[in-house]
Amino acid sequence: MPDGAVIQRMFAEVAPGYDRANRALSFGIDVLWRRRTVRMVDARPGERGIDVCAGTGDLSFALQRAGATVLGADFCAPMLARACAKAGADPKAPRFLAADAMALPFPTASFDFATVAFGIRNVSDPLAALREMARVVRPGGRVVVLEFTKPRVPLLGAFYRCYFGKVLPRLGAWISGARNNAYQYLHDSVMAFPERQDFLALMAAAGLQRPRMSLLTGGIAAIYRGEVAG
Ligand SMILES: C[S@@+](CC[C@H](N)C(=O)[O-])C[C@H]1O[C@@H](n2cnc3c(N)ncnc32)[C@H](O)[C@@H]1O
Repeated sequence: MPDGAVIQRMFAEVAPGYDRANRALSFGIDVLWRRRTVRMVDARPGERGIDVCAGTGDLSFALQRAGATVLGADFCAPMLARACAKAGADPKAPRFLAADAMALPFPTASFDFATVAFGIRNVSDPLAALREMARVVRPGGRVVVLEFTKPRVPLLGAFYRCYFGKVLPRLGAWISGARNNAYQYLHDSVMAFPERQDFLALMAAAGLQRPRMSLLTGGIAAIYRGEVAG
């Protein structure tokens, strides 16, 4: 289980180079994955959503562009500062606030949907965070998670193990300027995190109904979706 304070410090150091590193290291595919996530959320104009572990806000912005009113929440101030800088004074941009994913400062059933992109793996207690996301969403609303998975296609798997395990930790440190092994942690945390059926079981344990998943790019990532009992 990652320690919250350690994770906070790690992302604080990564924050200045985070977006640049994301685009470069994923060859821009992360933008397409977030777009697919927005489609899976099926956010409609007028709906209210919360994007937890929002970081620099990329998924929050993509959801807001789809017409929803989105609140991005994260517990790392320097990541949120980047998100707020990107929002500037645009009244159509999402709002951002400091909050722990495991203790969201909102009443039950405040939102139509909750999302988390590449964040649930970093939370000390992922089940508690899923339960909290389910709590703040209204009955019949959606909880959608975008997270890395491990590909099972042999050739892609070999390339992935080499790139993700050996190249990315060094390249990530170089591009982001972080000196704290954040990209080695990225690899190690993905390897250790429950995925596919195991993650769907976690969603079910959080009380989410009809949990299902859609694999992306040969199984390098997945979008999971569940509904709050209505
Ligand atoms: C890899 S970043 C993902 C950022 C963004 N969602 C994206 O798609 O680029 C993970 C984020 O999770 C946040 N985080 C980790 N644990 C958290 C927690 N318990 N509560 C709130 N934010 C948390 C970190 O501060 C970091 O900004």
